[in-house]
Amino acid sequence: ATGTAERPAALAVPAARADGCPFDPAPGVERARREDPVTRATLWDGSSCWLVTRHQDVREVLGDPRFSADATRPGFPFLTAGAREIVGSNPIFIRQDDPDHARLRRMLTADFMVKKVEALRPEVQRIADELLDRMTDGRTSADLVAEFALPLPSLVICLLLGVPYEDHEFFQERSRILLSLRSAAEEVRTASDELQDYLIRLAESKRQRPDDGIVSRLVARGELDSTDIASMGRLLLVAGHETTANMTALSTLTLLRNPEQLARLRNDPSLIKGAVEELLRYLTIVHNGLPRIATEDVTLGGATIRAGEGVLCTINTANRDEDVFPGGDTLDVGRDARRHVAFGFGVHQCLGQPLARVELQIALETLLRRLPELRLDIPFEDVPFRHDMGIYGVHALPIAW
Ligand code: HEM
Repeated sequence: ATGTAERPAALAVPAARADGCPFDPAPGVERARREDPVTRATLWDGSSCWLVTRHQDVREVLGDPRFSADATRPGFPFLTAGAREIVGSNPIFIRQDDPDHARLRRMLTADFMVKKVEALRPEVQRIADELLDRMTDGRTSADLVAEFALPLPSLVICLLLGVPYEDHEFFQERSRILLSLRSAAEEVRTASDELQDYLIRLAESKRQRPDDGIVSRLVARGELDSTDIASMGRLLLVAGHETTANMTALSTLTLLRNPEQLARLRNDPSLIKGAVEELLRYLTIVHNGLPRIATEDVTLGGATIRAGEGVLCTINTANRDEDVFPGGDTLDVGRDARRHVAFGFGVHQCLGQPLARVELQIALETLLRRLPELRLDIPFEDVPFRHDMGIYGVHALPIAW
C-alpha cells in the first residue's frame, strides 16, 4: 500500500542525482520505485503531487484519458516557475488534450512517419560527415557538443521546418532558457515570446515566399493562423534539437565509460539500432517526469489519486524497472530494450521518434567508425552534467582522437 493524499509529502522533486552516479536516476526516486512506487512528492513551489515510478503504472497513467496533459487545469504540476509563467499564452499541443491535441498533431504525422524519415538518411549522413570533416580538420581535439551533437539535429530540423540555420544562435539560446530549471519566470516568458514572434514572422514570410518546409506547408493548408503555426513550429524547433543533441553527447560519454560495450558495438555495427534503444532506455534524458493531472479519482498501485491532483510519471525510473528490464541498471547494447518509455507512451508519445532514431543511429555509427581513437579529453569528474536542465545530458564534451 502506498498511502493517501493526506500523507505528508516526502520527496522533493526535481530530485538531485547522487555524486558519482551521473547516469542513474536520483536515489530518492529510485528508492520510491522499489519501496513505494506511487508516492507523494513536493514540488519546488511547495505544492504536492504524485510520483508514479514503475513501468506498468507509468504506462497506465500515460495511456489513460482520465489523466490530462492540459496545463491550464488548476493543480497542474509544473516542474519550474517558468513553465507555470507561460501557461495559457501560445499553447502547444504537447500540453493539450484531444480533440485539440489530435487535430494539430495529425497535421504533422505524415512528415514524421518512419517511411518519410528513413528517406532522409542520405541527407543526415551527409550532414554528419561534413560536421566531422570540419571538426577533425587539422585538429586532434574538440567539444563534441558544440561541433557535432548540437549542430547535427539543429541543421536537420531547420531543413525540415524551413527555418534559416543562420539563426541557430538565437533559437538555441532561447531553447536553453526555456529548458533550464534555474531560469527566472520573467526570463522564460521573454524567451518564449521572442521565439513565438520569430516564428510568426517566419510564417508570414512563407506566405510571400513559399518553400517545401513544414511551416510553409502549414501556411498553405489555410486551416491555421500564423500564431497557431508559430506554436507548432516552436514545439518542433525546441523538441527537435535539444533532445537528440543531448542523447548523442551523453551516449558517446556512456560508451566511453563502458569500454566493453563500446568494443562490442565497434566489432558489430549491426548492433547500432538496438544499441540506440538501449541508450535511450538507460539514459532517459527527459528525466524529471512527464506531468499529468487526474480528471477523475483513479486507483493506482494501491493509492487513490483524486480528481484535480497532479502526477509526475518518472520515465527514467520506469526504464530501470527490473520487472521489465532484468539487470536494468547495467548498459547492455545487445539487450532488447524496445519496451522502453524514453519517448513517452500513449497519445502524446514522441512525434519525432523516427527522426530521433535515424539521427542517433547515424551520429553514433559515423562517430565511432571515423574516430577509432576517440577518448574523453578531461577527467570524468570534470564533465559538466546538465543537472540544471529539464533535458539531461552534458553542457560540453571535450574529446580527443
Ligand atoms: C513528445 C522524448 C526527439 C518532437 C515527447 C515526449 C517525450 C519525448 C518523452 C512525451 C512528452 C509527454 O508525454 O509529456 C524525446 C526524446 C527525443 C525526442 C528522448 C530524442 C532522443 C524529438 C524530435 C522531435 C520531437 C527530434 C521533432 C522533430 C516531439 C513532439 C512531441 C514530443 C512534437 C509532442 C507529441 C504530442 O504531444 O503528441 N518527446 N523526443 N521529439 N516530441 Fe520528442
